[in-house]
Amino acid sequence: MANLEIEFCGVKMKNPVVAASAEPTLNAHNMTKCIDAGAAGVIVKTMSDSPDMRELTTRSKWRFLNERHEVCRGKVPRAFSLYGRSGLALETPDEYLPEVEKAVKHAAERDAVVIGSVGSTTTEGWVTLAKQMEGTGVPLLECNFGCPHPHMMPGVRTGMEVGQDFDYACEVTEAVCKAVSIPVMIKVTPQVTSLIDFAGRLKKAGASAVTLTNRFIGFVPDIETGKPLVYGQAGIGGPWVKPLTLRWVHNIRQHYKDELFIAGTNGAYDWRDLVMFIMCGAHIVEMCSAVMVYGYEWLGKQVAGLEKWMNEKGHASLSDILGVASDAAMPYSEMPREKAKVDPDACTNCGRCLKACFYQAMQQGDGATYVKTENCIGCGGCYSVCPAEGAINISLA
Ligand SMILES: Cc1cc2nc3c(=O)[nH]c(=O)nc-3n(C[C@H](O)[C@H](O)[C@H](O)COP(=O)(O)O)c2cc1C
Repeated sequence: MANLEIEFCGVKMKNPVVAASAEPTLNAHNMTKCIDAGAAGVIVKTMSDSPDMRELTTRSKWRFLNERHEVCRGKVPRAFSLYGRSGLALETPDEYLPEVEKAVKHAAERDAVVIGSVGSTTTEGWVTLAKQMEGTGVPLLECNFGCPHPHMMPGVRTGMEVGQDFDYACEVTEAVCKAVSIPVMIKVTPQVTSLIDFAGRLKKAGASAVTLTNRFIGFVPDIETGKPLVYGQAGIGGPWVKPLTLRWVHNIRQHYKDELFIAGTNGAYDWRDLVMFIMCGAHIVEMCSAVMVYGYEWLGKQVAGLEKWMNEKGHASLSDILGVASDAAMPYSEMPREKAKVDPDACTNCGRCLKACFYQAMQQGDGATYVKTENCIGCGGCYSVCPAEGAINISLA
Protein backbone atom coordinates (compact mmCIF):
# COMPACT_ATOMS: atom_id res chain seq x y z
CA MET A 1 0.00 0.00 0.00
CA ALA A 2 1.26 3.45 -0.89
CA ASN A 3 2.13 5.72 2.00
CA LEU A 4 0.73 9.22 1.41
CA GLU A 5 2.43 10.82 4.40
CA ILE A 6 4.58 13.84 3.80
CA GLU A 7 6.69 15.95 6.08
CA PHE A 8 6.02 19.63 5.43
CA CYS A 9 8.13 22.25 7.24
CA GLY A 10 8.77 19.68 9.97
CA VAL A 11 5.06 18.89 10.36
CA LYS A 12 3.81 15.42 9.53
CA MET A 13 0.82 15.45 7.18
CA LYS A 14 -1.08 12.19 6.65
CA ASN A 15 -1.54 13.04 2.97
CA PRO A 16 -0.76 16.05 0.76
CA VAL A 17 -4.36 17.31 0.46
CA VAL A 18 -5.16 20.54 2.24
CA ALA A 19 -8.32 22.64 2.18
CA ALA A 20 -7.16 26.09 1.06
CA SER A 21 -8.02 29.18 3.06
CA ALA A 22 -11.43 30.23 1.74
CA GLU A 23 -15.12 29.76 2.37
CA PRO A 24 -14.80 25.97 2.91
CA THR A 25 -12.66 26.87 5.96
CA LEU A 26 -14.70 29.92 7.01
CA ASN A 27 -15.36 28.75 10.58
CA ALA A 28 -14.98 25.75 12.91
CA HIS A 29 -18.05 24.09 11.39
CA ASN A 30 -16.63 24.22 7.87
CA MET A 31 -13.10 23.26 8.90
CA THR A 32 -14.48 20.25 10.74
CA LYS A 33 -16.21 19.16 7.53
CA CYS A 34 -12.96 19.39 5.56
CA ILE A 35 -11.12 17.36 8.19
CA ASP A 36 -13.85 14.74 8.38
CA ALA A 37 -13.84 14.48 4.58
CA GLY A 38 -10.21 13.31 4.76
CA ALA A 39 -8.05 16.38 4.18
CA ALA A 40 -4.75 16.17 6.05
CA GLY A 41 -4.88 19.88 6.66
CA VAL A 42 -7.13 22.91 6.57
CA ILE A 43 -5.98 26.49 6.30
CA VAL A 44 -8.22 28.81 8.23
CA LYS A 45 -9.99 31.56 6.31
CA THR A 46 -7.52 34.46 6.55
CA MET A 47 -7.97 36.28 9.86
CA SER A 48 -7.74 40.03 9.39
CA ASP A 49 -7.63 43.22 11.41
CA SER A 50 -8.96 45.16 8.41
CA PRO A 51 -12.65 46.08 8.82
CA ASP A 52 -12.83 46.62 5.03
CA MET A 53 -11.67 43.07 4.31
CA ARG A 54 -14.13 41.62 6.81
CA GLU A 55 -17.01 43.75 5.55
CA LEU A 56 -16.34 42.76 1.95
CA THR A 57 -17.08 39.14 2.83
CA THR A 58 -20.58 40.15 3.96
CA ARG A 59 -21.22 41.04 0.30
CA SER A 60 -19.42 38.04 -1.28
CA LYS A 61 -20.49 37.18 -4.80
CA TRP A 62 -19.24 34.54 -7.16
CA ARG A 63 -20.26 32.65 -10.23
CA PHE A 64 -19.02 29.45 -11.82
CA LEU A 65 -18.43 30.12 -15.51
CA ASN A 66 -18.30 27.71 -18.45
CA GLU A 67 -15.60 27.59 -21.17
CA ARG A 68 -17.28 30.54 -22.92
CA HIS A 69 -17.19 32.47 -19.65
CA GLU A 70 -20.94 32.47 -19.30
CA VAL A 71 -22.58 31.78 -15.95
CA CYS A 72 -23.18 28.05 -15.40
CA ARG A 73 -26.64 26.92 -14.35
CA GLY A 74 -26.59 23.39 -13.01
CA LYS A 75 -23.78 21.60 -14.76
CA VAL A 76 -20.34 23.00 -14.09
CA PRO A 77 -17.82 21.83 -16.72
CA ARG A 78 -14.35 20.48 -15.90
CA ALA A 79 -12.69 23.59 -17.33
CA PHE A 80 -14.76 26.03 -15.27
CA SER A 81 -13.76 29.41 -13.91
CA LEU A 82 -14.64 30.67 -10.47
CA TYR A 83 -15.11 34.40 -10.81
CA GLY A 84 -15.86 36.24 -7.64
CA ARG A 85 -15.50 38.98 -5.12
CA SER A 86 -15.04 38.21 -1.44
CA GLY A 87 -12.93 39.30 1.50
CA LEU A 88 -11.27 37.71 4.50
CA ALA A 89 -12.70 36.08 7.66
CA LEU A 90 -15.99 37.63 8.74
CA GLU A 91 -15.14 37.90 12.43
CA THR A 92 -12.74 40.16 14.29
CA PRO A 93 -9.65 38.33 15.57
CA ASP A 94 -11.14 38.12 19.08
CA GLU A 95 -14.29 36.51 17.69
CA TYR A 96 -12.45 34.27 15.24
CA LEU A 97 -9.69 32.81 17.43
CA PRO A 98 -12.07 30.57 19.45
CA GLU A 99 -13.29 29.13 16.11
CA VAL A 100 -9.72 28.28 15.19
CA GLU A 101 -9.13 26.71 18.60
CA LYS A 102 -12.19 24.49 18.14
CA ALA A 103 -10.91 23.36 14.74
CA VAL A 104 -7.41 22.74 16.13
CA LYS A 105 -8.88 20.45 18.80
CA HIS A 106 -11.01 18.58 16.26
CA ALA A 107 -8.02 18.14 13.94
CA ALA A 108 -5.75 16.85 16.72
CA GLU A 109 -8.22 14.04 17.41
CA ARG A 110 -8.18 13.03 13.74
CA ASP A 111 -4.51 13.14 12.85
CA ALA A 112 -5.08 16.33 10.87
CA VAL A 113 -3.50 19.77 10.99
CA VAL A 114 -5.02 23.24 11.12
CA ILE A 115 -2.80 25.87 9.52
CA GLY A 116 -3.22 29.52 10.48
CA SER A 117 -3.68 32.31 7.94
CA VAL A 118 -3.42 36.03 8.56
CA GLY A 119 -3.69 39.28 6.63
CA SER A 120 -3.08 42.75 8.01
CA THR A 121 -2.57 46.26 6.65
CA THR A 122 0.42 47.21 8.85
CA THR A 123 3.65 45.47 9.85
CA GLU A 124 2.68 45.64 13.52
CA GLY A 125 -0.72 44.21 12.62
CA TRP A 126 0.85 41.24 10.80
CA VAL A 127 2.95 40.52 13.89
CA THR A 128 0.02 40.80 16.29
CA LEU A 129 -2.21 38.55 14.17
CA ALA A 130 0.59 36.03 13.72
CA LYS A 131 1.17 35.77 17.46
CA GLN A 132 -2.55 35.51 18.16
CA MET A 133 -2.85 32.76 15.57
CA GLU A 134 0.15 30.90 17.01
CA GLY A 135 -1.57 31.03 20.40
CA THR A 136 -4.38 28.77 19.10
CA GLY A 137 -1.94 25.89 18.77
CA VAL A 138 -1.59 25.81 14.97
CA PRO A 139 1.76 24.26 13.99
CA LEU A 140 2.14 26.36 10.82
CA LEU A 141 1.21 29.85 9.71
CA GLU A 142 0.43 31.13 6.22
CA CYS A 143 0.69 34.86 5.48
CA ASN A 144 -1.72 35.85 2.75
CA PHE A 145 0.27 38.14 0.41
CA GLY A 146 -1.89 37.07 -2.51
CA CYS A 147 -5.52 38.03 -1.95
CA PRO A 148 -6.50 39.82 -5.20
CA HIS A 149 -9.29 41.98 -3.79
CA PRO A 150 -7.32 44.70 -1.97
CA HIS A 151 -6.11 45.72 -5.42
CA MET A 152 -9.66 46.91 -6.09
CA MET A 153 -10.01 48.62 -2.69
CA PRO A 154 -8.11 51.92 -2.57
CA GLY A 155 -6.18 52.35 0.67
CA VAL A 156 -6.40 48.70 1.78
CA ARG A 157 -2.79 47.55 1.82
CA THR A 158 -2.97 43.81 2.33
CA GLY A 159 -3.02 40.65 0.17
CA MET A 160 -1.48 41.19 -3.25
CA GLU A 161 -0.76 44.83 -2.45
CA VAL A 162 1.89 43.36 -0.13
CA GLY A 163 2.82 40.53 -2.50
CA GLN A 164 3.59 42.99 -5.31
CA ASP A 165 5.81 45.13 -3.11
CA PHE A 166 8.76 42.78 -2.62
CA ASP A 167 10.66 45.02 -0.19
CA TYR A 168 7.67 45.48 2.06
CA ALA A 169 6.72 41.80 1.78
CA CYS A 170 10.19 40.83 2.99
CA GLU A 171 9.95 43.35 5.84
CA VAL A 172 6.65 41.80 6.99
CA THR A 173 7.99 38.27 6.56
CA GLU A 174 11.04 39.03 8.68
CA ALA A 175 8.95 40.68 11.40
CA VAL A 176 6.48 37.77 11.50
CA CYS A 177 9.17 35.07 11.43
CA LYS A 178 10.99 36.75 14.34
CA ALA A 179 7.76 37.06 16.32
CA VAL A 180 6.55 33.45 16.11
CA SER A 181 8.27 30.15 16.69
CA ILE A 182 6.21 28.09 14.22
CA PRO A 183 7.23 27.76 10.54
CA VAL A 184 5.86 30.46 8.25
CA MET A 185 4.54 29.93 4.72
CA ILE A 186 4.19 32.94 2.44
CA LYS A 187 1.26 32.78 0.01
CA VAL A 188 2.14 34.91 -2.99
CA THR A 189 0.26 36.53 -5.85
CA PRO A 190 0.93 35.28 -9.39
CA GLN A 191 0.47 38.84 -10.66
CA VAL A 192 4.15 39.76 -10.68
CA THR A 193 6.83 39.51 -13.33
CA SER A 194 8.85 36.85 -11.53
CA LEU A 195 8.69 34.98 -8.25
CA ILE A 196 12.16 33.45 -8.45
CA ASP A 197 14.31 36.08 -6.74
CA PHE A 198 11.42 37.02 -4.48
CA ALA A 199 11.17 33.46 -3.15
CA GLY A 200 14.88 33.57 -2.29
CA ARG A 201 14.41 36.85 -0.46
CA LEU A 202 11.44 35.43 1.47
CA LYS A 203 13.60 32.47 2.44
CA LYS A 204 16.32 34.84 3.72
CA ALA A 205 13.66 36.77 5.64
CA GLY A 206 12.81 33.55 7.49
CA ALA A 207 10.05 31.86 5.48
CA SER A 208 10.05 28.06 5.52
CA ALA A 209 7.69 27.64 2.58
CA VAL A 210 6.05 29.49 -0.26
CA THR A 211 2.47 28.92 -1.30
CA LEU A 212 2.22 29.14 -5.08
CA THR A 213 -0.09 30.96 -5.76
CA ASN A 214 -3.24 32.89 -4.92
CA ARG A 215 -5.65 33.82 -7.74
CA PHE A 216 -5.56 36.27 -10.63
CA ILE A 217 -7.83 39.25 -11.26
CA GLY A 218 -10.11 39.19 -14.29
CA PHE A 219 -12.99 41.10 -15.85
CA VAL A 220 -15.93 39.30 -17.49
CA PRO A 221 -18.81 41.09 -19.23
CA ASP A 222 -22.27 39.63 -19.83
CA ILE A 223 -22.99 40.24 -23.55
CA GLU A 224 -26.77 40.27 -22.97
CA THR A 225 -26.73 43.08 -20.41
CA GLY A 226 -23.50 44.79 -21.39
CA LYS A 227 -22.55 44.80 -17.72
CA PRO A 228 -19.75 42.99 -15.91
CA LEU A 229 -20.60 39.84 -13.97
CA VAL A 230 -20.64 40.32 -10.19
CA TYR A 231 -20.57 44.10 -10.74
CA GLY A 232 -16.96 44.46 -11.89
CA GLN A 233 -13.48 43.01 -11.92
CA ALA A 234 -13.02 40.07 -9.61
CA GLY A 235 -10.74 37.26 -8.55
CA ILE A 236 -10.58 34.50 -11.14
CA GLY A 237 -9.21 30.98 -11.18
CA GLY A 238 -10.16 27.42 -11.97
CA PRO A 239 -8.60 24.21 -13.25
CA TRP A 240 -7.39 25.91 -16.46
CA VAL A 241 -4.95 28.03 -14.42
CA LYS A 242 -3.00 24.96 -13.34
CA PRO A 243 -0.19 25.14 -15.95
CA LEU A 244 0.50 28.75 -15.01
CA THR A 245 0.83 27.77 -11.37
CA LEU A 246 2.88 24.67 -12.14
CA ARG A 247 5.38 26.83 -13.98
CA TRP A 248 6.07 28.67 -10.70
CA VAL A 249 6.15 25.44 -8.71
CA HIS A 250 8.71 24.14 -11.22
CA ASN A 251 10.79 27.33 -11.13
CA ILE A 252 10.89 27.48 -7.34
CA ARG A 253 11.78 23.78 -7.13
CA GLN A 254 14.58 24.36 -9.67
CA HIS A 255 16.07 27.23 -7.69
CA TYR A 256 15.40 26.28 -4.07
CA LYS A 257 15.02 22.49 -4.09
CA ASP A 258 16.32 21.78 -0.59
CA GLU A 259 15.77 25.24 0.83
CA LEU A 260 12.05 25.94 0.61
CA PHE A 261 8.98 23.78 1.03
CA ILE A 262 6.30 24.36 -1.61
CA ALA A 263 2.54 24.40 -1.14
CA GLY A 264 0.78 24.37 -4.50
CA THR A 265 -2.60 26.04 -5.03
CA ASN A 266 -4.52 27.65 -7.90
CA GLY A 267 -5.72 25.08 -10.37
CA ALA A 268 -5.81 21.68 -8.64
CA TYR A 269 -9.12 20.05 -9.57
CA ASP A 270 -8.73 16.35 -8.85
CA TRP A 271 -6.21 13.63 -7.91
CA ARG A 272 -4.58 13.78 -11.34
CA ASP A 273 -3.79 17.40 -10.65
CA LEU A 274 -2.40 16.45 -7.25
CA VAL A 275 -0.01 14.12 -9.04
CA MET A 276 0.98 16.93 -11.43
CA PHE A 277 1.57 19.42 -8.62
CA ILE A 278 3.69 16.90 -6.71
CA MET A 279 5.64 15.90 -9.82
CA CYS A 280 6.48 19.58 -10.30
CA GLY A 281 7.71 19.91 -6.72
CA ALA A 282 4.75 20.78 -4.47
CA HIS A 283 4.94 18.98 -1.13
CA ILE A 284 1.30 19.68 -0.33
CA VAL A 285 -1.60 20.92 -2.46
CA GLU A 286 -4.26 23.36 -1.32
CA MET A 287 -7.70 22.94 -2.93
CA CYS A 288 -10.57 25.40 -2.99
CA SER A 289 -12.61 25.96 -6.18
CA ALA A 290 -13.48 22.32 -6.85
CA VAL A 291 -14.56 21.95 -3.22
CA MET A 292 -16.78 24.98 -3.73
CA VAL A 293 -18.46 23.17 -6.64
CA TYR A 294 -18.72 19.62 -5.28
CA GLY A 295 -18.60 20.02 -1.50
CA TYR A 296 -16.26 18.86 1.25
CA GLU A 297 -16.40 15.17 0.19
CA TRP A 298 -14.41 16.12 -2.90
CA LEU A 299 -11.30 16.35 -0.73
CA GLY A 300 -11.54 12.75 0.50
CA LYS A 301 -12.28 11.47 -3.02
CA GLN A 302 -9.04 13.02 -4.27
CA VAL A 303 -7.04 11.46 -1.42
CA ALA A 304 -8.53 8.09 -2.39
CA GLY A 305 -7.85 8.72 -6.08
CA LEU A 306 -4.24 9.60 -5.40
CA GLU A 307 -3.75 6.51 -3.24
CA LYS A 308 -5.30 4.24 -5.90
CA TRP A 309 -3.09 5.72 -8.60
CA MET A 310 0.03 5.34 -6.45
CA ASN A 311 -0.83 1.70 -5.80
CA GLU A 312 -1.47 1.03 -9.48
CA LYS A 313 1.84 2.58 -10.43
CA GLY A 314 3.71 0.81 -7.64
CA HIS A 315 4.82 4.02 -5.92
CA ALA A 316 5.56 3.32 -2.27
CA SER A 317 5.63 6.94 -1.17
CA LEU A 318 5.26 10.49 -2.44
CA SER A 319 9.05 10.85 -2.55
CA ASP A 320 8.93 8.54 -5.61
CA ILE A 321 7.20 11.30 -7.58
CA LEU A 322 8.13 14.51 -5.81
CA GLY A 323 9.63 16.92 -8.33
CA VAL A 324 10.36 14.27 -10.97
CA ALA A 325 8.84 16.26 -13.84
CA SER A 326 10.56 19.41 -12.71
CA ASP A 327 13.91 17.70 -12.52
CA ALA A 328 13.45 16.23 -16.02
CA ALA A 329 12.84 19.62 -17.66
CA MET A 330 15.33 20.61 -20.40
CA PRO A 331 16.49 24.00 -21.58
CA TYR A 332 15.46 24.86 -25.15
CA SER A 333 19.01 24.26 -26.36
CA GLU A 334 18.99 20.61 -25.28
CA MET A 335 15.71 19.60 -26.92
CA PRO A 336 16.25 16.68 -29.30
CA ARG A 337 15.53 17.08 -33.00
CA GLU A 338 12.50 15.05 -34.10
CA LYS A 339 10.52 14.27 -37.26
CA ALA A 340 6.96 13.24 -38.01
CA LYS A 341 6.33 9.86 -39.61
CA VAL A 342 3.11 8.67 -41.27
CA ASP A 343 1.89 5.09 -41.01
CA PRO A 344 0.07 4.58 -44.36
CA ASP A 345 -1.94 1.66 -42.96
CA ALA A 346 -3.48 3.85 -40.22
CA CYS A 347 -3.73 7.12 -42.18
CA THR A 348 -7.17 7.92 -43.64
CA ASN A 349 -5.87 10.78 -45.84
CA CYS A 350 -8.30 13.17 -44.20
CA GLY A 351 -5.91 16.05 -44.79
CA ARG A 352 -6.30 17.47 -41.30
CA CYS A 353 -2.53 17.39 -40.73
CA LEU A 354 -1.91 19.52 -43.82
CA LYS A 355 -3.99 22.33 -42.32
CA ALA A 356 -1.87 22.26 -39.14
CA CYS A 357 1.52 22.13 -40.88
CA PHE A 358 3.19 25.48 -41.46
CA TYR A 359 6.56 24.14 -42.61
CA GLN A 360 5.14 22.48 -45.77
CA ALA A 361 6.21 19.09 -44.43
CA MET A 362 2.86 17.28 -44.52
CA GLN A 363 1.94 16.65 -48.13
CA GLN A 364 -0.44 14.56 -50.19
CA GLY A 365 0.13 12.90 -53.54
CA ASP A 366 -0.96 9.72 -55.33
CA GLY A 367 -3.75 9.23 -52.77
CA ALA A 368 -1.34 9.15 -49.84
CA THR A 369 -0.32 11.54 -47.05
CA TYR A 370 3.43 11.71 -46.52
CA VAL A 371 6.10 13.75 -44.77
CA LYS A 372 8.57 15.76 -46.82
CA THR A 373 11.29 14.95 -44.31
CA GLU A 374 13.67 17.77 -45.14
CA ASN A 375 10.91 20.29 -44.35
CA CYS A 376 9.78 18.66 -41.11
CA ILE A 377 11.13 20.15 -37.90
CA GLY A 378 9.12 17.81 -35.67
CA CYS A 379 6.90 20.45 -34.10
CA GLY A 380 4.12 17.94 -33.45
CA GLY A 381 1.13 19.98 -34.66
CA CYS A 382 0.15 17.23 -37.14
CA TYR A 383 0.38 14.60 -34.40
CA SER A 384 -2.00 16.54 -32.18
CA VAL A 385 -4.70 17.15 -34.78
CA CYS A 386 -4.59 13.70 -36.45
CA PRO A 387 -7.86 11.87 -35.70
CA ALA A 388 -6.61 8.43 -36.85
CA GLU A 389 -4.91 6.63 -33.98
CA GLY A 390 -1.32 5.70 -34.75
CA ALA A 391 -1.31 7.38 -38.17
CA ILE A 392 1.28 10.01 -37.22
CA ASN A 393 4.14 9.56 -34.81
CA ILE A 394 6.93 11.87 -33.76
CA SER A 395 10.30 10.31 -33.15
CA LEU A 396 13.97 11.24 -32.97
CA ALA A 397 15.33 12.48 -36.29
C1 LIG B 1 -14.29 32.56 -2.60
C2 LIG B 1 -12.82 32.47 -2.31
C3 LIG B 1 -12.31 32.95 -1.11
C4 LIG B 1 -10.96 32.88 -0.84
N1 LIG B 1 -10.48 33.36 0.34
C5 LIG B 1 -9.17 33.28 0.63
C6 LIG B 1 -8.66 33.71 1.89
O1 LIG B 1 -9.39 34.17 2.76
N2 LIG B 1 -7.33 33.59 2.10
C7 LIG B 1 -6.47 33.06 1.18
O2 LIG B 1 -5.26 32.95 1.43
N3 LIG B 1 -6.93 32.64 -0.02
C8 LIG B 1 -8.25 32.72 -0.30
N4 LIG B 1 -8.71 32.24 -1.49
C9 LIG B 1 -7.78 31.57 -2.43
C10 LIG B 1 -7.78 30.06 -2.18
O3 LIG B 1 -7.23 29.76 -0.92
C11 LIG B 1 -6.98 29.29 -3.24
O4 LIG B 1 -5.61 29.56 -3.06
C12 LIG B 1 -7.38 29.63 -4.66
O5 LIG B 1 -8.78 29.58 -4.81
C13 LIG B 1 -6.70 28.73 -5.69
O6 LIG B 1 -6.99 27.38 -5.46
P1 LIG B 1 -8.11 26.59 -6.34
O7 LIG B 1 -7.65 26.60 -7.75
O8 LIG B 1 -8.15 25.21 -5.75
O9 LIG B 1 -9.39 27.34 -6.17
C14 LIG B 1 -10.07 32.30 -1.79
C15 LIG B 1 -10.58 31.82 -2.99
C16 LIG B 1 -11.93 31.89 -3.26
C17 LIG B 1 -12.44 31.35 -4.55
